[in-house]
Amino acid sequence: MKIRTLSILLLTCAVILCTVHSSIGSSQKPQGLKKLSVEDKIEKLLKKMTLEEKIGQMTQYSWLSDSKDYHNHLKQLVRKGKVGSFLNLTAGIRVKEHNELQKIATEQSRSGIPLIFGFDVIHGYRTVFPIPLAQSCSWDPDLAAKAASVAAAEATADGYDWTFAPMIDIARDPRWGRIAEGFGEDPYLVSVFAAAKVRGFQGSDLANPRTLVACLKHYAAYGAAEGGRDYNTSDISERTLREVYLPPFKAGVKAGAATLMSGFNEINGIPATGHRRILTDILRDEWKFDGFVVSDYNSVTQLITHGFAEDNADAAQKAATAGIDMVMESEKCMKELLRLAKNNEVLEKVIDRAVRRILRIKFRAGLFDHPYVDPNLAKSVILSKEHLQTAREVAKKSMVLLKNDSSLLPLKKDIKSLALIGPLADNQKDLLGTWAWGGRAEDVVTVRKAIREKLTPKSRLLYAKGCDIQGNSTKGFDEAVKIAKQADMVILAIGESEKMSGEAHCRAYLDLPDIQKRLVKKIHATRKPAIVVLFSGRPLSISWLKENIPAVLLAWHPGVQGGNAVADILFGDYNPSGKLTTTFPRTVGQVPIYYNHKNTGRPPKEKDRHSSKYIDVPWTPLFPFGYGLSYTTFKYSNLKVNPAKAVLGKPITVSVDVQNTGKRAGEEVVQLYIRDLVASVTRPVKELKGFKKISLKPAQKKTVSFTITNEQLSFYNQDMKFITEPGDFTAWAGPDSVQGLQADFKIIKPK
Ligand code: NOJ
Repeated sequence: MKIRTLSILLLTCAVILCTVHSSIGSSQKPQGLKKLSVEDKIEKLLKKMTLEEKIGQMTQYSWLSDSKDYHNHLKQLVRKGKVGSFLNLTAGIRVKEHNELQKIATEQSRSGIPLIFGFDVIHGYRTVFPIPLAQSCSWDPDLAAKAASVAAAEATADGYDWTFAPMIDIARDPRWGRIAEGFGEDPYLVSVFAAAKVRGFQGSDLANPRTLVACLKHYAAYGAAEGGRDYNTSDISERTLREVYLPPFKAGVKAGAATLMSGFNEINGIPATGHRRILTDILRDEWKFDGFVVSDYNSVTQLITHGFAEDNADAAQKAATAGIDMVMESEKCMKELLRLAKNNEVLEKVIDRAVRRILRIKFRAGLFDHPYVDPNLAKSVILSKEHLQTAREVAKKSMVLLKNDSSLLPLKKDIKSLALIGPLADNQKDLLGTWAWGGRAEDVVTVRKAIREKLTPKSRLLYAKGCDIQGNSTKGFDEAVKIAKQADMVILAIGESEKMSGEAHCRAYLDLPDIQKRLVKKIHATRKPAIVVLFSGRPLSISWLKENIPAVLLAWHPGVQGGNAVADILFGDYNPSGKLTTTFPRTVGQVPIYYNHKNTGRPPKEKDRHSSKYIDVPWTPLFPFGYGLSYTTFKYSNLKVNPAKAVLGKPITVSVDVQNTGKRAGEEVVQLYIRDLVASVTRPVKELKGFKKISLKPAQKKTVSFTITNEQLSFYNQDMKFITEPGDFTAWAGPDSVQGLQADFKIIKPK
């Protein structure tokens, strides 16, 4: 142990020395570049690069391996200029590895080009925040941006330059495990969060060493996987692609995202990683994106498995030509690309194009100017007090109160006795959620600990796990029932494990695991008032809970401060304000179910057999998009649309008064929806066009205004032109996608 500590110390000193030396060493190479513009620097470098070095820039390797020999092999490749980037440095010694590899790249390779180090910093780094789906339920993009800047500060201090986030795939199917990683089902809301996350990760100056290069993923339509099964085919119309799946990417590009990642999926017969129209025509020609695109893990090689490429050479050529600039882990393909490009001027131009884009981002990110990371930085940054405070704020604002009969919540801190039951009550690991590789279970505040801290010393807190998250053992049931009977009230902390959502973790059932259902029913039978705190990475079909349990708080997978945030809400220190950003189905059989669907020619009607519905379950969701309760109540009144008749091209203002009619201060997410009643192509029954989160003291009233521009009313017509058509519209302002005040307006042709 001591020897290890000593060697780490020596290595750290060596790196510091290298850092000092490197500024001399590296200044030799980029010296001549200093005064040039980025574009001139790129051209100058490019001219000096061999084809091998160019392909090297396009190659990304995973560092994740226990083999020293393999690491030595990779170092050798860096020395030869054959690597442009790494992902997944080794936990614990990342800065050391970062600096050592960067030294080889900048001082010992011929071209001296720094590497760029990537990692999946999806919802926080060591300070793990709630999963992105939860964050979107805060409807607070500035807070989400703040969470991203915290993640950037920590990840950069630990050796990373680049995050593979935000994941902005629209998800309309909760079976898909990756629904947890995105911001829900609505194109407008996800677009707002996409831009916010880019802002948060990249800051106002990408060259600042404390900012992370962002990566919009997975481009495109990965969330439309058939059957909610990961990696599966997406077959969607051009209209759905343009109106639903692409807007968040366009917004992210507009916000300045430096990179994108292509998806594993195919779109209408063409794999995303070889999709020229998506990667070049739309991304480059239409949106003018000038950063670089990385392929997802091995997805270039997988072009062969898709049946789209014959062999590695074909796959590499197709991907590069379509618009992939950097290739994640497809080494053999890159060797073939080199072979093919040797006597192929056209291909060499494609390669130059890719290298230009990669170098552009390396320059913009300041990697040439500050290739090294201070090994002492992480200590003061990671898990700092401010970061943990932000994590707690994000967590409590992400939680959604689904039910609260007879105002059972909030609880009194001096309650005599409370029984805390369930496999997530004293659990650390699962509260982190999926994709939390930088996090550690030991950092998580459990619900049990946080509740104990809230209660007065006299209050008794009884605890029983009851059962595991999954499995068959009922051994803990008796103890759980026993303590429920002894207590005044029960809190059930139940739900999914972190492993039940995320990549390759799709489910065909959306129920609570059976063993937990049985536990809940046992506790329910004691007739003690019970509150469910539900942890999950996706919407669950929890009809039984809704019918039988008086209060349900949806906590999602809330991150390191999850326990504290739950306790803040349960005891009224925070009045819940989260609203759902995905529809909750009654049963998996209703999926896909989303609020912005089309009307059909036979919309569902209670008494009409031949209308669009089911014979065995209502057509309506369990909880709709936008839904969430508060400990107070809000009244909407005085909806105004001005002007009610507007000339095409002129904006419209919608305003509504919102008053707090309860006894507590609270926050409300005021939502604006519209419907285009008749158009040359059918339009959704409702579309979110704006939202504002406001705070109101008891009895306080505020007027909330929205401006609707023509662009917000536009859609793709039959010729796929993005236009606004004159006609009749309805606007709603309300607390969710079902309720709300309604008014009509008209868009008329100019004279
Ligand atoms: C595969 C995942 O699809 C992608 O989201 C992730 O960024 C890469 N692996 C790297 O870990």
